[in-house]
Amino acid sequence: MLRLVIDTDTAGDDTISLLMALKWPGVRLEAVTVVCGNVEFSQQVENALYTVENFSSYHVPVYPGCSRPLLKTWKYADYVHGKDGMGENYFPKARQRPERKHAVQALIELVNSNPGEISIIAQGPLTNIATAIMLDREFVKNVKRLYVMGGYADGFGNVTPAAEYNFWVDPDAAKIVLHSGVKPLIVGWDIAVKYSVVEEAMHREIASWGTKAADFFVKVNRKVVEFEKRTMGLAGSTHPDTITTAIAIEPRVARRVEPRYVDVENGSELTRGMSVVDHLGVLGREANADVCYEADGKLFREMLFKVLRSG
Ligand code: BDR
Ligand code: CA
Repeated sequence: MLRLVIDTDTAGDDTISLLMALKWPGVRLEAVTVVCGNVEFSQQVENALYTVENFSSYHVPVYPGCSRPLLKTWKYADYVHGKDGMGENYFPKARQRPERKHAVQALIELVNSNPGEISIIAQGPLTNIATAIMLDREFVKNVKRLYVMGGYADGFGNVTPAAEYNFWVDPDAAKIVLHSGVKPLIVGWDIAVKYSVVEEAMHREIASWGTKAADFFVKVNRKVVEFEKRTMGLAGSTHPDTITTAIAIEPRVARRVEPRYVDVENGSELTRGMSVVDHLGVLGREANADVCYEADGKLFREMLFKVLRSG
């Protein structure tokens, strides 16, 4: 049994990643923790509640966490996912309500009371994870595996020329995590662009499958498809968070992973949030992360489509 917590700025692809974790056999989603990112904070909490209520066969608690980055100002990405973060479908409010406990407290308790058992997928800015690390040093030792969707190993940023969105929102948090000894497996924006695109024509086919999950996928990604075409010249939707979850579930999706020293820029305005991977080892520093360089896009899409067809 793969026991997961997903830390998320719930909008767009974040919800499809949750869907995969909720529906994949052998995975138990122990909790969802919400962090500042894509859209207005309380909307992100509602998006998480809506997703777990509609697609889970068991109770998954949703814990609201840090609603601001540690130090930096923050800009939404609602121009990517729509004002509600859900393709402007304005889904009804879920009956399930958020837990009272803070997400950081929930993360620490879950991980420390199950040493070596819980893996975390951090698919938003790293504010909650960094805060948990600062509050309790046992956390780093006790987490089974931390998967981070953030930065890039090969390519360019998506929110500024230099930075990927999650690292850009809270580069100070990203720095704390990278230097904590937790040694995350990092899946960057480059992996999403090269290996996770679901083409527009495929969206039309998915719409014909007639399942609740397929319908949800097409609706949530409506705005993203338009955005990626306009700005990136891509032929469909990107799935950075879902391919990270697919890697956690099925390690073969990450075709090439290398240990590397990785840092992030948190001082400069121009390059705020830029991930710097020492590909050649020229700094002579010990690797602090495992970096995904290549993925299996075919296997990823097979997994995703299996989930979308399943109900
Ligand atoms: C990341 O930013 C968010 O908009 C996506 O959900 C993903 O986590 C990609 O840069
Ligand atoms: Ca995200």
